[in-house]
Amino acid sequence: MSKVEVHGYAIISDDDRIADASGHTPEALRNDADWAYFQAGLDSSALTVLGRLGHEANPSPRGRLRMILSSSSPGLERRPDGWWWNPEKLPWDQAIRTMLPNGGRVAVPGGRRVFDLFLGIGYDTFHLSRAEGVRVPGGVALFSACDQGRGAEALLAERGLRPGSRLILDPAVPVSLVIWRK
Ligand SMILES: NC(=O)c1ccc[n+]([C@@H]2O[C@H](COP(=O)([O-])OP(=O)(O)OC[C@H]3O[C@@H](n4cnc5c(N)ncnc54)[C@H](OP(=O)(O)O)[C@@H]3O)[C@@H](O)[C@H]2O)c1
Repeated sequence: MSKVEVHGYAIISDDDRIADASGHTPEALRNDADWAYFQAGLDSSALTVLGRLGHEANPSPRGRLRMILSSSSPGLERRPDGWWWNPEKLPWDQAIRTMLPNGGRVAVPGGRRVFDLFLGIGYDTFHLSRAEGVRVPGGVALFSACDQGRGAEALLAERGLRPGSRLILDPAVPVSLVIWRK
């Protein structure tokens, strides 16, 4: 199979949170410049892999190809709104070979369990945006290990990714972006 490239995308707070304590994205983690960057990333990807809740909350208006993680899937199953995948029933290598037999770029926008899963599978690139100065106490962590005091950056570095320079997506907040690459 040709190369599959896995790209993670997240916007986090200073305390490495992707959502608030109720599981919703707080306004402070919504940013137009970051959204535009993320959408461009999805446009240049062959497939978006996301959790069921994120899928249900954000339908894909442009009809991009989606793979939705859910325990309700018997393995890998085509439904009208995309491919439904259960990683406990079918390993990633087999699932992605069915989805993208010629390889391609895969975007992974979470949520937390999906980000965790791909820490194990391996990110080739992680686009890590941060709303600087924002804290979301008690919120949902980017990776579950962040709840044990591990920083998002340390976890990416441990998996062999290295940071690029800090770019500013929106100077008003500011929202910064660091692209981590293998
Ligand atoms: N700041 C950011 O960058 C960012 C990124 C992503 C999400 N978010 C926010 O976080 C919240 C949603 O994230 P979330 O973590 O609550 O939900 P989610 O990942 O979108 O969906 C969770 C569901 O996905 C399925 N799933 C996930 N991992 C699985 C696995 N390994 N095996 C089988 N099924 C799996 C399960 O569905 P079943 O129940 O059907 O089994 C699970 O209930 C939203 O508010 C969203 O906007 C923010």
